[in-house]
Amino acid sequence: MGVFLSKLLKKAAKKRPYCAAVVPAAGSARRMEGVDKLGAQLGGKPVLARTLEALEACPLIDEIVVVTREEQIPAIGELCRSYGIKKLKCVVRGGADRAESVELGLREISPEAELAAVHDGARPFVSQRLLEEVLTTAARTGAAVPAVPVKDTIKEAEDNLVERTLDRSRLWAVQTPQVIQADLLLGALKHCREKGVSITDDCSAVEAMGMAVTLTRGEYENIKITTPIDLAFGEAILKCQQD
Ligand code: CTP
Ligand code: MG
Repeated sequence: MGVFLSKLLKKAAKKRPYCAAVVPAAGSARRMEGVDKLGAQLGGKPVLARTLEALEACPLIDEIVVVTREEQIPAIGELCRSYGIKKLKCVVRGGADRAESVELGLREISPEAELAAVHDGARPFVSQRLLEEVLTTAARTGAAVPAVPVKDTIKEAEDNLVERTLDRSRLWAVQTPQVIQADLLLGALKHCREKGVSITDDCSAVEAMGMAVTLTRGEYENIKITTPIDLAFGEAILKCQQD
């Protein structure tokens, strides 16, 4: 057999990487003014159930670890049963901030997991198109995140005084899932925690270690339910999707 053909066959036989989704859902939703945002109903279904259904439907995701507050563990297990989340590996307790919750979740994924897809429990509108693109890109590059161009002009300010206006044409709002080589991400998060570096997304932990992160096409619909008005936006998104 020619070398070219044998290389081609090897490439075709190379299986896609095993991917574990880690879903941080252990926050206290302070900006929701008292509403439990993950249990809130959107089109008659809890936000977290919608998020998990999207991950369940994606053929590139092999297992799901949900991270929640300790007292919620039984209820989340029940939610997964009633919505048929068969890829659920376990539900574990979270930490004081999102990064700690993700780290605790990553400790529970299967050893064979090459990629970790960290996806906010509060992002129920992630599409299959977005998932496929970010997962296949990360399988090639080691780290990928969906992003959309920012719509507003962003300024840096202190005490209400503008210090600087950033060049909007270079700015991206990043979303989740953030898909990263699992062992690298765990190491990077541990490193940030030990050094006291605070981070608000997963990629910045590996960026700080010099890893290149590729942006893929995000979607404006892939909102994170953050403040009460987002539930109204969510209902509007559902309506558009039904029309
Ligand atoms: N999260 C988590 N553990 C934490 C904090 C946040 O698992 N200690 C999760 C949230 O449950 C959410 C996701 O990370 O699904 C994104 O965080 P965010 O939208 O900020 O949610 P909260 O932290 O709950 O909200 P707030 O910042 O308004 O308190
Ligand atoms: Mg938060």
